[in-house]
Amino acid sequence: LSSIRVDIAGVEEGTQLTVKWRGKPVFIRRRTQEEIDAANEVDPATLPDPLARNENIGADAPATDGNRALAPEGAEGKAAEEWLVMMGVCTHLGCVPLGEAGDFGGWFCPCHGSHYDTAGRIRRGPAPENLPVPVATFDGPTEIILG
Ligand code: FES
Repeated sequence: LSSIRVDIAGVEEGTQLTVKWRGKPVFIRRRTQEEIDAANEVDPATLPDPLARNENIGADAPATDGNRALAPEGAEGKAAEEWLVMMGVCTHLGCVPLGEAGDFGGWFCPCHGSHYDTAGRIRRGPAPENLPVPVATFDGPTEIILG
């Protein structure tokens, strides 16, 4: 299957790039420290979907923020936590959630009211699973390869 390479050098903190990959939107967000902190405050065991849903790690990995974030090799501190790459497809019936919206400061799906947090984890509403993290890797500090 096809891979694509995304240049993220121009993505400012607190903003999101949406790219199309295999016909679907992928959200690439450079999170603020506040967004990271909010995501880390939650005990993943208490979440509606306690699994990370990250194709790059084991299927039974818990939905900690660290298990959802993507980092360039050797990144430390905030740089190791700030990038979130996930499919922009609601796990309920496939609408595209809106960014910086909803009750948990992350994404909101307007179709039937699903609220996702700043790690893209479902927190309230009919969606059954966290927004999935696709196969993705950094190539240097400013490029991400999807697939
Ligand atoms: Fe998102 Fe139904 S498709 S809440």
